[in-house]
Amino acid sequence: MAIRNILHGDDPALRKHSRAVTDFNKRLHVLLDDMRETLIEANGLGLAAPQVGVLRRAVLIVDLSIESEDPEDQIIELVNPEIIEVSGEQTGSEGCLSIPGVYGLVSRPEEVKVRAQDRFGRTFALRGKELTARAICHETDHLNGIVFTSLTDHFLTEEELEAMREEREAKRAQSRARAGEAGEQAAEGSEGSESEDVEKVAEGAESAESAADSGADSEPSGTDNEASGERGAEPLCR
Ligand code: CO
Repeated sequence: MAIRNILHGDDPALRKHSRAVTDFNKRLHVLLDDMRETLIEANGLGLAAPQVGVLRRAVLIVDLSIESEDPEDQIIELVNPEIIEVSGEQTGSEGCLSIPGVYGLVSRPEEVKVRAQDRFGRTFALRGKELTARAICHETDHLNGIVFTSLTDHFLTEEELEAMREEREAKRAQSRARAGEAGEQAAEGSEGSESEDVEKVAEGAESAESAADSGADSEPSGTDNEASGERGAEPLCR
């Protein structure tokens, strides 16, 4: 595996339409493996093949609702993804690994159903809501040459970003306090499962935040982050 170079905003490849994957061969597997490594290294929430200069319809999304210590386990590969159902609407802040440091408010469906193939060509369907729905939409947009900056009419200012960071920090402190209390209860001999659950929520909120700070694709602040803090974070429609 190798880390690939992520193209940035002014690269023409980011505005092009990607072609369908037709060969589920070693070459595709190397691409997906490299994308996985690149995504983890960048601490992002999604990555599309055109972002590494390959104009093929393949994306990765990170599903934070999959509970695991290993980020590899949270990555879902979508080859030739097609959004076949959408419902509801959410508006929240979004960022992109190809446009570091820039965030804007983007409206997306609250829930989507996507049909895709895995790396072996097997077809499957996936439902995503909240942050996962946002990620699926954001990443499939990349395959059509659409970058989120063309979908927002409100870029977040430094002050707004700072306010969101403070809000996240307060929520983290709250969930840490809850985890602490639950931990004490567990130590006193009550059911231990509660403290584990709270702990996982705290970790989910933290990983969502660090991804946001690094300029992750489909970034989880504002209302999305609120949801992820409560539920241990949501995965993907980018
Ligand atoms: Co992006």
